[in-house]
Amino acid sequence: MASINSNFLKLKAGYLFPEIARRVKAFSDANPDQAARIIRCGIGDVTEPLPPAVVKAMHDGVDEMADRSTFKGYGPEQGYEFLRQAIVENQFANLGISADEVFISDGSKCDTGNILDIFGKGNTIAITDPVYPVYVDTNVMAGNTGDADENGAYANLLYLPCTAENGFVADVPTQKADLIYLCFPNNPTGAVATRSQLEAWVAYAKANDAILLFDAAYEAFIQDPAIPRSIFEIEGARDCAIEFRSFSKNGGFTGVRCAYVVIPKTVTGKADDGTRIPLHQLWSRRHSTKFNGASYPVQKAAAAVFSPEGKQQVAALIEHYMGNAKLLREACLALGLQVFGGVNAPYVWVGCPAGLSSWDMFDKMLNEANVVITPGAGFGAAGEGWFRISAFNSRANVVEVCSRLKSLIS
Ligand code: MLT
Repeated sequence: MASINSNFLKLKAGYLFPEIARRVKAFSDANPDQAARIIRCGIGDVTEPLPPAVVKAMHDGVDEMADRSTFKGYGPEQGYEFLRQAIVENQFANLGISADEVFISDGSKCDTGNILDIFGKGNTIAITDPVYPVYVDTNVMAGNTGDADENGAYANLLYLPCTAENGFVADVPTQKADLIYLCFPNNPTGAVATRSQLEAWVAYAKANDAILLFDAAYEAFIQDPAIPRSIFEIEGARDCAIEFRSFSKNGGFTGVRCAYVVIPKTVTGKADDGTRIPLHQLWSRRHSTKFNGASYPVQKAAAAVFSPEGKQQVAALIEHYMGNAKLLREACLALGLQVFGGVNAPYVWVGCPAGLSSWDMFDKMLNEANVVITPGAGFGAAGEGWFRISAFNSRANVVEVCSRLKSLIS
């Protein structure tokens, strides 16, 4: 009989968002009269249509595929040069990143999980708590953890608590870690890291010969010009960081799928014999073996995000979602709730009303207000007592959510 990867058996319950979807479905089935009233502010999924410049480029890409003279088969595994060049010019100008350090993919969720393929066993892995669950679960699957305790914390992971006291930005630990996941603007808390906080992380990584896995999927939502958008704005990061970026939330590509990883050629890890090996070389080998590239029309569409019209249209989308975040944030503050995020990120992170756990709050919101939120405990033990409201929605729905919150809590 074929044996299985028993690490999967260590995973707690289902992945957070399918679990929420399951509960919402159960509620809708049991209460068909309320089903149509449900407003989903749980998963951070975009609601607004693709920018017109993106739609046009995707149509053009499909037309090219329909004509013998412009048809394309397999593309370059690393991604088309036109897209990698547009990324470098528009997102990393003057940061010393070259187009051949960019790897196009079909999503940051996959990239942040797949990156573990190139790292060995026995690394100390540091993870913030609360955290995007993919970082934890993929390490469990890869066998990098022990079992979970009753709070859902896995043995062998170094948890970095993020609390109201540290503004939900983890302090650099006193222990040594080899791989550190950082996500700014943060999912789920909406926190951002200042330049000096990121400098401390780069200094830590260099002092400990560690690698920062920097997830910048929400970079486009930063409003404050003083907040770095890329880890590569920090001196020295080219030697110790990998950055993940996505078109999902800025260009509205959650259903289209396109993202990228930036791996400077100067970032290295240690082989068993102590030799230093560029991680770029390993990821390139992994990518070309296990991935055949994002489709041509999708890459064309992604490049259109950087066209003059595309930039304007994306800016309007960001303004829309951040307007939603402001309304949600202000509504929660007016109710006397503790609120983080929603200023440089599309997530509003809210303290539960006294006496309610985060799943209690989830149930209360679903049952009494017909609004889906995400319970903080789903992001880790330190998320208990908090809930996340996603600002990805129509304005009308957000206004309605604010009004229902008011009726529910005041
Ligand atoms: C979230 O709601 O946390 C995100 O949508 C998850 C994701 O981007 O995979």
